[in-house]
Amino acid sequence: LDACLWLENWLRKYPGTLLFISHDRDFMDRVATHLVHFDQKQLVLYTGNYSAFERQRAERLAQQQASFERQQARIAEIQRFIDRFKAKATKARQAQSRVKALERMEKIAPAHVDSPFSFEFPVADKVSNPLLSIRHGVAGHGDVPILKNINVTLLPGTRVGLLGPNGAGKSTFMDALRGTGTLLSGERTCGEHLAIGYFAQHQLESLDLDASPFLHLQRLAPTASEQKVRDFLGGFDFHGDEALAPIRSFSGGEKARVALAVIAWQKPNLLLLDEPTNHLDLEMRQALTMALQNFEGAIVVVSHDRHLLRNTVDEFWLVCDGAVGEYEGDLEDYERWLAERRKDEESPPRREVAEGQEKSVNTAGAATLTADERKARKRQEAELRQKLSPWRKKQGTLETRMEQLQQKLATMEQNLADPGLYDDQQKVRLKELLAEQTELKRELEDVEAEWLEVSETVENLEAELAG
Ligand SMILES: Nc1ncnc2c1ncn2[C@@H]1O[C@H](COP(=O)(O)OP(=O)(O)OP(=O)(O)O)[C@@H](O)[C@H]1O
Ligand SMILES: [Mg+2]
Repeated sequence: LDACLWLENWLRKYPGTLLFISHDRDFMDRVATHLVHFDQKQLVLYTGNYSAFERQRAERLAQQQASFERQQARIAEIQRFIDRFKAKATKARQAQSRVKALERMEKIAPAHVDSPFSFEFPVADKVSNPLLSIRHGVAGHGDVPILKNINVTLLPGTRVGLLGPNGAGKSTFMDALRGTGTLLSGERTCGEHLAIGYFAQHQLESLDLDASPFLHLQRLAPTASEQKVRDFLGGFDFHGDEALAPIRSFSGGEKARVALAVIAWQKPNLLLLDEPTNHLDLEMRQALTMALQNFEGAIVVVSHDRHLLRNTVDEFWLVCDGAVGEYEGDLEDYERWLAERRKDEESPPRREVAEGQEKSVNTAGAATLTADERKARKRQEAELRQKLSPWRKKQGTLETRMEQLQQKLATMEQNLADPGLYDDQQKVRLKELLAEQTELKRELEDVEAEWLEVSETVENLEAELAG
């Protein structure tokens, strides 16, 4: 990701003409001014970046009735996810960010109705809580420790994106989670029903080149019916003879699809994905993003696809300077942090020019702020922080209240499940309970509505603060 961002910034400044191919939508959004779409043996030119292309294409498709109907079906599907997440989520803040992401997906979905891919990770048969934890872990290679004092716990529903520069130890950490050689010391505890689905950075090397996609799955479940295996592979766009051909001659993307099919087929409840998108094209990345959204187990993913990260994880962990820790910010914060770090590395600190009137320029050519500008910005930030604080407090109070109400409602539901309550002589009691339940639901709705408003204010202030 670090290198991607660097390249992106470099290309944005590049004064010449640039023709490029990419599967990374954020990258294209920032770098492209025009898009050529290879569609059914024709080249169609669109003006604007990738998002603009998606909008125009969605409109174009909507003019054809059949596509329009498929779009509506896909939107309904996403809406169902949204409702389910809303109903299920216990932490309102997380639910909210997911809902937002899904709403974004809803806008994107229409442009991908003719995608050849559609798959999901089947629900695992059993699950443990927690799934996995490491205490006082040290991870490394041979006797060289790379990461120290690893303390992590993965629960069902934990969704983590791992950030960190090349060589920081992300893959080493993944291996430690998997329980292979890199955990040099510490305590790793697995839930009884832990089932890991692991996609290695170099996953393709682990496939059997002489076996077909069909055979890869069949080996794992010899008793599964041929039709079932074929249907499953269909979601990964392997049809007919293709499903039966040795994968030796497959492209990188096709092999990556086989690897993902193999993982999904095994019904994992913990997915460890180390750069799963490297070979995948946009449509397949989109399908993977949708499948991950719908996945109910835990996810730890390393990816430089920002769209995928934003839409599938709830938190980030940073692997850096020999440690793994929670990262408080979002991807934009991370990008700024990287830029700062790079600046420090590239240009040794210079002495301020008198009164900071002259701008210092680093080797990448970007102007930095003068001392006065910095001071003003600091002041502004302090003011914003002061404004933010009461809102955050209010948000916290509302969250606690929401949790209390949800708890009460859950207990109420348990009480209402008592069959004895529905006897004639309990009529009055039942009526009371139902009235109480209605009242609780109403209050919860009110608190949720208020929370949404407060959260929006908090977010706006935070955005201002982030500049
Ligand atoms: N098999 C190995 N034997 C010895 N050292 C290794 C081995 N694999 C990785 N390392 C070293 O461990 C450090 C962390 O590597 P790791 O592959 O975990 O980084 P990473 O964060 O996944 O990087 P990238 O973003 O490039 O995938 C690096 O300094 C690397 O050289
Ligand atoms: Mg790696």
